[in-house]
Amino acid sequence: KKYDFGLVGLGVMGRNFILNVADNNFSAFGHDLDQEKVDALIEEGGNTEKVNASSDLKTFIDALSTPRKIMLLVPAGKVVDIVIDSLIPHLDKGDIIVDGGNSFYTDTDRRDAYLEEKGIHFFGAGVSGGAKGARKGPSIMPGGDAEAYKVVQPIFEAVSAKYKGEPCVAYMGKKSAGNYVKMVHNGIEYGLMQLTSEIYDLLKKAGGLTNSELHNTYSEWNSGRLQSFLVEITADIFTEKDDKGDGDLIDKILDKAKQKGTGKWTSQNAMDLGIPVPSIDIAVSMREISALKDERILADELYNRPTPEAIDKAELTKLAEEALYFAFIITYAQGLHQLTDASKEYGYGCDLAVIAKIWRAGCIIRAALLADITEAYNDNPELKNLLLAPKFVEKVQSTVASARTLVSYAAKSGIPVPGLSNSLTYFDAYTSSRLPLNLIQAQRDYFGSHTYERLDIEGIFHTEWEKE
Ligand code: 6PG
Repeated sequence: KKYDFGLVGLGVMGRNFILNVADNNFSAFGHDLDQEKVDALIEEGGNTEKVNASSDLKTFIDALSTPRKIMLLVPAGKVVDIVIDSLIPHLDKGDIIVDGGNSFYTDTDRRDAYLEEKGIHFFGAGVSGGAKGARKGPSIMPGGDAEAYKVVQPIFEAVSAKYKGEPCVAYMGKKSAGNYVKMVHNGIEYGLMQLTSEIYDLLKKAGGLTNSELHNTYSEWNSGRLQSFLVEITADIFTEKDDKGDGDLIDKILDKAKQKGTGKWTSQNAMDLGIPVPSIDIAVSMREISALKDERILADELYNRPTPEAIDKAELTKLAEEALYFAFIITYAQGLHQLTDASKEYGYGCDLAVIAKIWRAGCIIRAALLADITEAYNDNPELKNLLLAPKFVEKVQSTVASARTLVSYAAKSGIPVPGLSNSLTYFDAYTSSRLPLNLIQAQRDYFGSHTYERLDIEGIFHTEWEKE
């Protein structure tokens, strides 16, 4: 008996992914050096005709039908290289390795070149949706060798999430496109998470909403235009009781957010490309500020904070819904703008409508908004920025006023809403035909003879600013 699909790394994601493959009538064989993980999969998988595993590498390799299709779900970084090197001596030309982790895109390009020399196909595929997604249907973002992708395509289409019957997986583009798209997905994820938490802060501190009211509010939003996985789980989080004491769990969780790096990489790379993504940048910075808990406690004692001005609960909730919708749009717009530019810069050949389409279900940033985003890019595949799409003008125009009201209210009340205010500022700057950066050009020319261009005459100019 030979198995259709191999998977290395039987942590929660790997185990769930294999079981998902088997549910969809493909047979899958797993490998992990940790015998306990192998046993756990066999125990859960039950039917060994469809699911089997071994901690012995040779047994694993021999169990797979050729060309072998081996997916890695191991932690990004060195481990991926170690696993690849351990596989190589046992593989045949034409075998396929898929890295399903959050690998840094340049690592994928390096591994691709390395394996190509050996006649082994390699591609990176972002997998989103957490443990449940892996089990029930993730969104999958494969990129790289297009021919090799065709070989695994039927399996990926079967296991992926479905949006109205359409699989949430598609070929993303050449080279490391799959990992790059997943990286930006995570950057957007950071932005949306920051925004939902700021709005929670406002509703709680200024509106005095209880956890049960917060649950109701986010649930209600989730049945409207804000419908999204992150709003849905936020509503759910507020209902969780503390199993180690009284009250609700949310109030006992330490306010220091960890990160594994994908959001930071998105920001760093956006800077390299020269594409502004301030809603994502600030989400990374806020995780960093959150980590400075001890300093925050000291500083809190040194400064006075204004008491939030009285505000009607219903009014605040309405403003919050509109502002959150506005800022969600801005965050997607920034991430997609980055993808548009990166696709050109790195020669990926991404189709933005396809990316938006496979994010409509399965992934962490899935949201009703993604159906509209898909349409906007279908209408105009050359769209430079979502804010330029006619469909989005009305959505943004009708909600931006609430973002303004809420940002100014939060500023007066001393409640930090950096995601919201960065989104608003980005919008105001991006939609300004004239910015004051003419002054920066004058300053640069003044102190460094860096030259400037003019609005009215073509050419490069320099002025002797300092008169004797
Ligand atoms: C997904 C997620 C996932 C990511 C976590 C944790 O799409 O399923 O993006 O891949 O690893 O969200 O990320 P941080 O630890 O950086 O918050």
